[in-house]
Amino acid sequence: MAKSNSLILLVCSLASLVPISSAETCSNYSFPSNQVFHSCMDLPVLQASLHWNYSQLTTKAQIAYRATQIPIGWISWALNPLGRGMIGSQALLALRHANGSMIAYSTSITSYNPSMLPGELGIPVSDVSAEYVDQQMIIFGVLGPLGNRTSFNHVWQRGSTVSENIPQVHPLSGQNVESMGLINFLSS
Ligand SMILES: *[C@@H]1O[C@H](CO)[C@@H](O)[C@H](O)[C@H]1NC(C)=O
Ligand SMILES: *[C@@H]1O[C@H](CO)[C@@H](O)[C@H](O)[C@H]1NC(C)=O
Ligand SMILES: *[C@@H]1O[C@H](CO)[C@@H](O)[C@H](O)[C@H]1NC(C)=O
Ligand SMILES: *[C@@H]1O[C@H](CO)[C@@H](O)[C@H](O)[C@H]1NC(C)=O
Repeated sequence: MAKSNSLILLVCSLASLVPISSAETCSNYSFPSNQVFHSCMDLPVLQASLHWNYSQLTTKAQIAYRATQIPIGWISWALNPLGRGMIGSQALLALRHANGSMIAYSTSITSYNPSMLPGELGIPVSDVSAEYVDQQMIIFGVLGPLGNRTSFNHVWQRGSTVSENIPQVHPLSGQNVESMGLINFLSS
C-alpha cells in the first residue's frame, strides 16, 4: 500500500516536470518586435510569463505580460498594492476588439462583478498596448513611478469570452483562482 502510494507520487511528480522542462522558458523568448527585457518570470499557472525592465532612477516598471490564449479571448495582469487577489487589482487588460484589432487598456477591479471598462488606476500607467502572436496575447505597459516600493502582490487572469468588446467572466475554479503571487521588480 505504502509502496504503490509512493509510486503514484513519483509518477505524478515526473508528469508535472515534463511540461516545465520541455516548455520554452521566459528568458529565451523572442518578442515579435525584438523588444528586450532585463527580467522575466514564468508564472505557475495559466501558461503565462511576465517580462520587465525596472528603473531605480525613475522607479518605473516597463512590463510585458504574455499568455497563451485563443484569438477571441482576453487576458489581464495586475498589481494589487493594498491587498491580495482580485479586489483592489490595478489591472492591464487585452482583448480582440470586434473590428479585429487587439486593444489594451487599464481598469481598476473594485468588486467581484467589475465593469471591465477602461478606467484610471491608482498607479500611474502609460504606453499600454497589445499584440497577438503565435497563439499568445501580450500586454505591454509602463507602471509608475512606484516610489520606493518594488515588491507587490500581483494577479493574472484569462477568459475565453468577450461580448460587445467587454471581457466576460473567467472560470471560477482551478488555475483561474490560483493565479496570484508576489513580484519583486528588483529580482531576476
Ligand atoms: C528555450 O529554452 C528551453 C529550455 O532551455 C528549451 O527547451 C527551448 O527549446 C528554448 N526555446 C527557444 C525558442 O530557444
Ligand atoms: C530594457 O532595458 C534595456 C537596457 O537598459 C534596453 O536595452 C531595452 O531596450 C529595454 N527594453 C525595452 C522594451 O525598452
Ligand atoms: C478598432 O477599434 C479600436 C477601439 O476603438 C481602435 O483603436 C482601432 O483602431 C480599431 N481598429 C480598426 C482596424 O478599425
Ligand atoms: C517609502 O516611502 C514612504 C513614503 O514616503 C515611507 O513612509 C517609507 O518609510 C519608505 N520606505 C522605505 C523602505 O524607505
